[in-house]
Parts: sequence; C-alpha cells; structure tokens
Amino acid sequence: MKIKTEPLDYRVALKLLLLNLSLFFLYPAAMAQQAAKPLQPTNFTSFKPGVEWDANDGVNIDCHGGNIIYVDSLKTFFWYGEHRGLPRGAACYSSKDLYNWKNEGVVMEKGDIGTFERPKVIYDAANKRYVMWFHYDGNGTGGGGYTLAEQGVAVSNSPTGPFILKGHSRPNGHESRDIGMYFDPETKKAYIGYAADHTNKTVRIVELSADYLSFTTNDFDVNAHCEGPGILKKGGIFYLLTSQCSGWTPNPGSFYTASAIMGPYQDHGSPFIGDAGNNSFNSQPCYIFKVPGYKDAYIYMGDRWNGGGRPESQHVFLPITITADGKMEIHWLKEWDLSIFTPEAKRPQRR
Ligand code: GAL
Repeated sequence: MKIKTEPLDYRVALKLLLLNLSLFFLYPAAMAQQAAKPLQPTNFTSFKPGVEWDANDGVNIDCHGGNIIYVDSLKTFFWYGEHRGLPRGAACYSSKDLYNWKNEGVVMEKGDIGTFERPKVIYDAANKRYVMWFHYDGNGTGGGGYTLAEQGVAVSNSPTGPFILKGHSRPNGHESRDIGMYFDPETKKAYIGYAADHTNKTVRIVELSADYLSFTTNDFDVNAHCEGPGILKKGGIFYLLTSQCSGWTPNPGSFYTASAIMGPYQDHGSPFIGDAGNNSFNSQPCYIFKVPGYKDAYIYMGDRWNGGGRPESQHVFLPITITADGKMEIHWLKEWDLSIFTPEAKRPQRR
C-alpha cells in the first residue's frame, strides 16, 4: 500500500528546527551549570580538624597525602596532594592565609602511572622551578599495585603546573612507597623520608642532589615505623613523625629524635596526647608544615582516610608542640587558629 504524505507546513518545520537548535546549545550549558557549583571564595578564620573543608568550588579539598609550601615572592601558600577524584593525579590549591583555599586544578594527571600517591613539592628558588616527588608504582600497564616501589620526579615552571614527568626509579636500589619531604632552610638541602625495604619494614632518608632532581648516595636506614613520614627541626634536634603500616586504617603514630638528619634516631612512642582511639586522632600523617612568620609554629597535617582514600576524606590539621624537655606533643583541638602561635619579632625598620 502506498502511503500518501503531506508536505510539512514550513512554519512547523521552522519551529522544529529552532527547538532542536536551542536544545543543542542550551542543554550542555544547563548540565554544566547543574554539575559545577559557582565559584565562591570561602570566609574561614580557623581550622576545624576532621570536618569537611570546602575550597572556593564548594567541594571538600581533594588534596591528600601531600604538603604545603610558601612561596615568598608570590606571598602565597600552595597545597599539593593526591587528587582522589577524576582525573587522578596531583591537585594544587592556593591560599593567602591557610584557611581559605582556591582550587587550582589537577597540575599533573597520573595518566598510565598505576599508583600515584603522596606527592611532595619543593620550590627551587635558584632555578625558579617547582619539583614534585611522589610514590610511583603499578604493574607497568596502567593498573594499580605496590611492587614496583619507585619514586617519580616531575617539574614545572609554574606553581600551578603543568608538572612534566622527568623520571622514576628506586632510591639507591631500595624499595620506596609512602614519602615525606624535608627542606632545610639553612643548608637549602632537601631530603626524602621513604617507607622502604621488605614492604615498608623501615623508613630510610635520602638526600637529594643540589637541583633536587635526583638522589645522592647519602641514604640512611632509620630503622623506624614505616609510613607517612614528616620531619621538623627545632633547636638543632630533628623530629621524625611516622605512622605504622595498616593501609587506610589509622594506627598509633610514633616520633623519633636525632641530632643529625641522618640519625641515629631514638624512638619515643606516640606524640598524640589523650588519643582515646589509639589511632593518631583517626588520621595518618602526611607532612609537618612550618608556618612562616611565627616562632616554632609547626602544623601536623594528617588524612582521615575513613577506610579508603576518597575525595571526601577529611583533613586533620593540629599544632605540634615541642615541650621544654624536648618531647613532641599533639593535642586534639576541635577548632583553632594561628593566634595559638607566637609571631616572630619583626626586625626594626631602618630609617
Ligand atoms: C597506606 C598508605 C597510603 C596508601 C594506602 C594503600 O598505608 O599510607 O598512602 O598507600 O596504604 O592501602
């Protein structure tokens, strides 16, 4: 049977065409608006450990296992860490006051690197570039895994990336997983503490080359608990803070002291005072940040992984006290701010 078709009224055809066109252009814009919250600077005046901490994008700061640097020439703090959401890789956030953070995006995508964890950035002021070290691992096919046990190094001319991978290897042949970083402002030397051999049975510390791009052979076995190492120096004494090795589940940390960065170190047990859960206040250390402009102002940076490394894992920032008899102490505070620290005396102005 032959079906007779009427020619379409041109006004109806025009309407249909306009409707299609508007849907084509407006739909993606509407979807994008629904997905992304409007950028809005936050207005925090304190730290609230363990509580959701939103950046200017209205989302919990997705920057874990990392570190903070202060770039004096830019008068800006940059916070680097694992971006656990998509794309996976290293995130960067910037701030002027340590409370309010702007999301600067993913500054290095992990691409086909299997496991990309615990990035730490150092600013190389002499060469005006940013060097990132991180735990580089995987099975070589883009899948996860922890048996390659290497460190990767990447470089950027800008604090907000992109960071370009320069290489990856085991430090002096040793296995390496969780890493921490210590920059000595007096000697300008940088060191990486790393969870090392026999699947993290000890922490080693390796000194980096003067350009921070490779390992020296100055590499020491601390014989300490194994993960999340953070280092601070006060009054000529080095304090090393570590966690034990229990994956995403928190455990009691330990601190060690030595009169030289390369040890020997002495174990003093947990610095977490009144830690009812015996689990480092339900967190795992990732870094110790020395706040510029204050006397002996050290911030413990830890991740509350909640059993898995997720974008919404909370941050636990707490002040670190070194007591008169040289012990490290970290006390729980529900809320605190930098006024807890003593400002450094300003140098008298020269006329
Ligand atoms: C933790 C480590 C994390 C991650 C996790 C995987 O012990 O600190 O960085 O590697 O194990 O289970």
